Amino acid sequence: MTGIPIVEAAPAKLNLYLHVTGRRADGYHELDSLVAFADLGDAIALTPAAARLALRGADLPPAGPRLAIAGPFGPDLMGGNPADNLVMRAAHALAARLGRQADVMIALTKALPVASGIGGGSADAAACLRALARLWGMPTDDPALFAVAAGLGADVPVCVAGRSCYFGGIGDVLDEAPELPETHAVLVNPNLPVPTPAVFRALAAARAESAAPFSAPARFARKPADARDLAALLLERTNDLTAPALTVAPAIADVLAALERSAGCLLSRLSGSGATCFGLYATTQEAEAAAKAIATAEPGWWVRPTRLRPTPPDAPALPRGI
Ligand code: C5P
Repeated sequence: MTGIPIVEAAPAKLNLYLHVTGRRADGYHELDSLVAFADLGDAIALTPAAARLALRGADLPPAGPRLAIAGPFGPDLMGGNPADNLVMRAAHALAARLGRQADVMIALTKALPVASGIGGGSADAAACLRALARLWGMPTDDPALFAVAAGLGADVPVCVAGRSCYFGGIGDVLDEAPELPETHAVLVNPNLPVPTPAVFRALAAARAESAAPFSAPARFARKPADARDLAALLLERTNDLTAPALTVAPAIADVLAALERSAGCLLSRLSGSGATCFGLYATTQEAEAAAKAIATAEPGWWVRPTRLRPTPPDAPALPRGI
């Protein structure tokens, strides 16, 4: 084995629409969402122990996983105990499931803002699981991989799949979605971490005061023809977490308004529980111009042009049930 690291992308997740369709007896909310991935994100590089042994002498005892964090948002993760990082928990959980030692060095490059509704921590854990699966010769669509992912968090299985799909239940039902057309996007976060539990608590509190019915599932009846058509279909749907997220982070309204005003914006929407919002555009030029204009007007915000990521040829098949 050489010292060449196994590199896995951890792309940002976007909820193109997100309907809250019910609530389970345990308090978790059931969702229907069309999930897509952006062409930017964090990255995981995993170096197996064989390289460490070759470098430092063959008599070293096996060690557990070790994590090194870098990247612009790395410092936001440095305060906590590294063992609590979801990436480390992923490595321990898969190793335990397979009865192996995860004697690996994991380098995480944190390019996505933390607690921002685009699944950064889940994507990192999922990328770590895929990298370990490759190291250990396990198919990346192995049901055991998805079972371990589900044990780590509701968004982790969809991030293991790493491809656009419908997300149902609490993330334990993943279904094929129509192929998405070439679509460009701008991601904007007002540099404000928003804890997911606070948004679901605000949703539950608002629902306790109103008898409004839950949203119906809203899967597409047809494949969107192009970016404009995709935006038109999405405009008939919502992100039901927008109102509760606004109560937790009112600045989200400014982000949505800035995207809405930008030239060529076909749709602006909150992703997940926020605070990151995205705008959709038909061309890369429009997305880049919009990102530049917003970043100039709001230098304190995180603003990135990107596009919806086409399904990678080696993306795992979706699991039949998790
Ligand atoms: O999945 P995550 O750990 O981020 O969820 C945090 C909290 O958000 C949960 O403990 C739950 O209270 C709430 N939640 C929910 N329904 C979901 C996901 C999360 O009510 N589908």
